[in-house]
Amino acid sequence: MSNSESIEQLAESANKDLAAVADEKALEAWRITYLGRKGRLTAVLRSLGEVEPEERKKIGAAANRLKAELDRALATKRSDLQQARIEQTVQAGRIDVTLPARPLTQGRLHPVTQTLREILEAFVAQGFSIIEGPEVELDYYNFEALRIPKHHPARELMDTFYIDRRDESDTKLLLRTHTSPNQIRFMEKHQPPVRVVVPGKTYRNESTDPTHEWMIFQVEVLAVDRGITMAHLKGTLFEFAKRLFGRERKIRFRCDYFPFVEPGVDMAIDCFICGGKGCRTCKNEGWIEILGAGMVHPEILSSMGYDADVYTGFAAGLGVERIAMLRYGIEDIRHFYTNDLRFLSQF
Ligand code: PHE
Repeated sequence: MSNSESIEQLAESANKDLAAVADEKALEAWRITYLGRKGRLTAVLRSLGEVEPEERKKIGAAANRLKAELDRALATKRSDLQQARIEQTVQAGRIDVTLPARPLTQGRLHPVTQTLREILEAFVAQGFSIIEGPEVELDYYNFEALRIPKHHPARELMDTFYIDRRDESDTKLLLRTHTSPNQIRFMEKHQPPVRVVVPGKTYRNESTDPTHEWMIFQVEVLAVDRGITMAHLKGTLFEFAKRLFGRERKIRFRCDYFPFVEPGVDMAIDCFICGGKGCRTCKNEGWIEILGAGMVHPEILSSMGYDADVYTGFAAGLGVERIAMLRYGIEDIRHFYTNDLRFLSQF
């Protein structure tokens, strides 16, 4: 060994220094001193070139053994230091292992979703299937095919969000103002018997207030078959009302106008708060309107290719938020979509 130190000296010095290492910073300095690219062991290995072949073999082997030994010692020291640090931290009381874990907050379904599911279940239980349709709709399905021509006053009741089109086509696109376009979409593709419910978002350009939102969920109900009468409409919707508002409910029908049904009705339930005597919930009416309905207009049946002398049907449409507000006693529809957990976590 000419100008480099002997393996034995190196081993002794490395072990002595390592024993004195007390923290991770010192350990890293030790690693650089002995095992680093410019470290002392590396220097020995580099100097082997100047040594006689015979001796080079011996020193080389010893140096490699030492390198493996120091690597192992380094790893052991590192984990010892880590362990010591954890123990120190625990002893210093910075981690109180007896503290209960932080509770995991549990999510739940939005009150409108809960109500929507109960509404759908009331119809599924009576043999209806659930289908869905597009929220961006053609003027044709939302209005025209439902017998609401341009300039018809019924359009004014449904302030519509229209969608600008880049092309020149005059097929108007809009956000559907109700779920009724799915009556057309479904009958277009299916033959009777028809029994479907269609849930989904609907949009109207409303100024918001306690009872108006520009987006609400609706559920459309449609049944078409031989011999369907107003009695089927009444029985089906009565069962729905009883499931959501109590078996003891009474219902009331009054004439109403929707261009796509004839006759058209609105359905009310007797007030489930005051039993009909008159209170805040029913605005002293004793009755609460909950949906619009009617017998599918025969002209619509014919235009769908159904024989209107053979087939008849009923349709109904209801607003989900309104039902949820009544059931939970919520006074302002805007609460549903402000995403305030203090409100939402009550349901
Ligand atoms: N689409 C009507 C509305 O949004 C409700 C309705 C549906 C009325 C089906 C009758 C029959 O006001």
